[in-house]
Amino acid sequence: MGGGIAQTCAQSGYETIVREVNQLLLDRGLARIYSAWDMMASKGKLTQGQVDENRSRLHGTLTIEDFADCDLVIEAVIENMEEKLRLFPTLDRILQPGALLLTNTSSLNVTQMGAVTKRPDKVCGLHFFNPAPVMKLVEIVRTISTSDETIESVRQFALSLGKTPVLAKDTAGFIVNFLLIPYLLAAIRMLENGMASRDDIDAAMKLGCGYPMGPFTLLDYVGLDTTMWAAEAIYDEYKDPLYAPPPLLRRMVQSGMYGKKSGKGFYEYQ
Ligand code: 3HC
Repeated sequence: MGGGIAQTCAQSGYETIVREVNQLLLDRGLARIYSAWDMMASKGKLTQGQVDENRSRLHGTLTIEDFADCDLVIEAVIENMEEKLRLFPTLDRILQPGALLLTNTSSLNVTQMGAVTKRPDKVCGLHFFNPAPVMKLVEIVRTISTSDETIESVRQFALSLGKTPVLAKDTAGFIVNFLLIPYLLAAIRMLENGMASRDDIDAAMKLGCGYPMGPFTLLDYVGLDTTMWAAEAIYDEYKDPLYAPPPLLRRMVQSGMYGKKSGKGFYEYQ
C-alpha cells in the first residue's frame, strides 16, 4: 500500500521520499513502481520523459531522519497500534513544526495517534484503497483535535493526486470498511458453513452485483491479515458480532496465508 501511495504522489508531481525497513523490501517496492510506470508508458498513458521525471522525483530510503524537510508524511506501516504509537512521536520529533502527519490506517483510532504527538491539530487520516494509484477514493478522517486548516490542506492535496476525497469521523472502520468488512466476513462464514463454494460465491457477487471482484478474490487482494486487523479494530470499538473475525480467517492468518502477497489465501498465486 505504501508503494502505491508513493507512486501516486510521485506521478502527481511531488518530490517523494519512501522509507522501507530493509534494502530488500525497498528494492522490491521501487521495482514494482518502476514496472507500473513502464506498463503505463507501454499503454501510451505516460511518455518516456514523464517516466524519467517520475523516477527522478521518487527517492527511497531506510533512514527516518530523511523525512525532516517533508511538508506532509503519510504513515503506512502495518495495522498495529503499538507500531503506530511508537512511530508517531518519532516523526513528530523529526518533522518541522508546520508539517502535516497523516495515517493511511484502514480502521485504527487516529485520535490516539495524534495524542502522542505535540501537533494533534495537524494529524488526520488519509485512507487510500487498493490499488492506490487506480482507486479514485480517499477517506479523510477527522479527529476531535484536527484543525479546519489541516482538513482543507489535506482535501486540496487529495484533489491534486486526482482523488475524490470523502470526510469521515474518527470512528473505527470510517465509511468503507464499516460497510465492506461485514460483507467480506459474511462470505467467509458462508464458506465455513458450507452454504456455497468459494467459486460460486465469487461468481455470484461479480456477475449478480457487478462487483469487479468477488469477496474471496478481494480478500486475497486486500490481504487476510489486513482484513482481520480491520475487523478486530471495529469489533473492539462496537462489540458487534458482525465484525468478529470468523475462525477460518484467524486460522488462515495464523498459518501465514495472507492472500496474494504471500502466494496463498483463498486462492493460490505463483
Ligand atoms: N499503476 C497504474 N495503473 C495501474 C496500476 C498501477 N499500479 N495497477 C493497475 N493499473 C491500471 C491498469 O493499467 C489498467 O488500466 P487500463 O484499464 O487503462 O488498461 C487498470 O488499472 C485496470 O487494471 P487491470 O486491467 O490490470 O485489471 P482489472 O481491469 O481487472 O482491474 C482492479 C483491477 C482495478 C483491481 C479491479 O479489479 C477492481 O477495482 N477491484 C476492486 C478493488 C477494490 O475493491 N479495492 C478496494 C479494497 S478495500 C481497501 O483497499 C481498503 C483497505 O483498508 C482494506
